[in-house]
Amino acid sequence: MLKTLHLDASNPAAIQQAAALLRRGNLVAFATETVYGLGANALSVQAVAAIFAAKQRPAWDPLIVHLASPEQLAQVTQIPSSLSARIQALVSAFWPGPLTLLLPRSPAIPDAVTAGRDLVAVRVPHHPAAQALLAAAALPIAAPSANRFGHTSPTTAAHVLADLDGRIHAVLDAGPTSVGVESTVLDPTQTPMRLYRPGAVTPQQLLAATGIAVERFLPPPGAPPLEPSALPSPGFGIRHYAPQARLELVKGSVQALCAALRKSQTSPAAPLPTHLGPVGILLPTDWDLPQDCRLQPGVVVMRWGCWTDPKTLAASLFAGLRALDDLKVRTILCPLPPSGGLGDAIRDRLEKAARS
Ligand code: TXA
Ligand code: MG
Repeated sequence: MLKTLHLDASNPAAIQQAAALLRRGNLVAFATETVYGLGANALSVQAVAAIFAAKQRPAWDPLIVHLASPEQLAQVTQIPSSLSARIQALVSAFWPGPLTLLLPRSPAIPDAVTAGRDLVAVRVPHHPAAQALLAAAALPIAAPSANRFGHTSPTTAAHVLADLDGRIHAVLDAGPTSVGVESTVLDPTQTPMRLYRPGAVTPQQLLAATGIAVERFLPPPGAPPLEPSALPSPGFGIRHYAPQARLELVKGSVQALCAALRKSQTSPAAPLPTHLGPVGILLPTDWDLPQDCRLQPGVVVMRWGCWTDPKTLAASLFAGLRALDDLKVRTILCPLPPSGGLGDAIRDRLEKAARS
């Protein structure tokens, strides 16, 4: 077991210490604007293998490579001239920021980073702590979200330590992340461009910046589920972002939430002995439960963001799910926000987390 250092990102010496750890092939978790990432030297086969081991992540799920600036793209990708205009448009509109691009990889990228695929996922985060760390390390840094595989992504250093304390060398603490859901994942090598994971950068913004249509990847309805390794982006197909408790999504309205609460209390879905805790509710800050609903015993309410402001819902989604897990709830009831914009990213994470 490692002694995980808890470093303060506001201290320049701590940034240097974290960068030195990365340069020696160690694992350092750090804040980005989306969620905390678990970083390691993307050019080192051993360092990348250590990420998979610490997270208990299957080898078929590839990693995003983080760069300090777009100038480093040539080190990790080989972009054909036929794609350079659209990549240039995407880079100048959205980097640094929460957009991951799947691009033809350079031979410098080990197979393990891309799970043997021809495209490597790349992004330039804009969080100042990530920027400072990446610049000081002067290396491309592979970094999946810094959680145990399948679990809710971390938006604070405490979340990282709850999952990975003793398994990584350090966490660089820069406080809670601002966006709260992971980056948009886009394959711009196809036309229309393929969206694999919705995030804060929306299809409308991608279309406006490039003039090229964007299509969200969805398997054909009724098709048998594919193995993750057979999917164009493996994270698409799996239970993910999930709390320990059973997550039940409710089509968004207070009335529907109350009805779901009554149902879960009268027929608690064959509780296992380990699942006898209260029912948790993730409740928008501008919603009030009617009194008969509110006063039920065995119900705990965790305040979420504002229903009419998806930014606040995204920013506090994962912290809310983790806080309810900490209270050992057996079920989490969560209203499903309206679709569109960041709402699509929140719905995507909730729908994946609610899979059995
Ligand atoms: O915001 C984020 O993207 C965070 C921060 C730390 O940057 N990172 C993150 O990484 O969410 P991760 O590994 O938890 O999710 C990456 C997703 C997965 O669904 C993975 O399957 C997909 O991107 N992905 C990565 N490389 C890929 C590749 N070469 N081809 C297709 N999909 C890829
Ligand atoms: Mg992840």
